[in-house]
Amino acid sequence: MDFFDVVKERHSMRAYGPQPVKPEDLQLILEAVNRAPSAGNMQAYEVYLVRDAERKAALVGAAGDQEFLAQAPLVLVFCAHPARSVGRYGERGADLYCLQDATVACTFAMLGATALGLSTVWVGAFDEDEVRQVIGAPQGERPVAMLPVGYAAEAPEVRARRSLQKLVHELQ
Ligand SMILES: Cc1cc2nc3c(=O)[nH]c(=O)nc-3n(C[C@H](O)[C@H](O)[C@H](O)COP(=O)(O)O)c2cc1C
Repeated sequence: MDFFDVVKERHSMRAYGPQPVKPEDLQLILEAVNRAPSAGNMQAYEVYLVRDAERKAALVGAAGDQEFLAQAPLVLVFCAHPARSVGRYGERGADLYCLQDATVACTFAMLGATALGLSTVWVGAFDEDEVRQVIGAPQGERPVAMLPVGYAAEAPEVRARRSLQKLVHELQ
């Protein structure tokens, strides 16, 4: 798919079928993640793959009962890893760059999944400590986004956007 078609075709999906994500597709998604830019190329984030029903159910609980997390065959959890960034960038690395690194990486995963005909939704509303516990991440890592990945089980809702006139501020 052409890049701009991918961008247009990406919509949040909150209903998934049971078909698993093909290993070769997952590999492509993870390679896209690994190509994402990061501050100083420090890649101050970690990615956790959750496939088992028990952990997915626990993620649902940690995310205020967002049930679709359990429907998706795979959930990627992106954690900021401040320790990878702080040495070089100090406070800005710890408070900002690692969050941005994780965010960009998750975005690459979303768009990569869309290009392969898969669906996703960014999940940001969750209890960080609970998610950290479910995935067994160390205290120093900060869960930033969860991304269920799978095949859509319904038509996506196409959400409106602000007009470019309102969004973009051209300085004269
Ligand atoms: C930072 C962030 C946090 C989000 N958290 C959630 C969430 O917890 N649950 C959810 O269903 N959608 C969540 N979303 C998805 C947004 O609701 C969705 O992207 C937005 O409504 C636009 O719809 P679209 O993705 O279909 O274009 C989140 C998106 C972002 C970028």
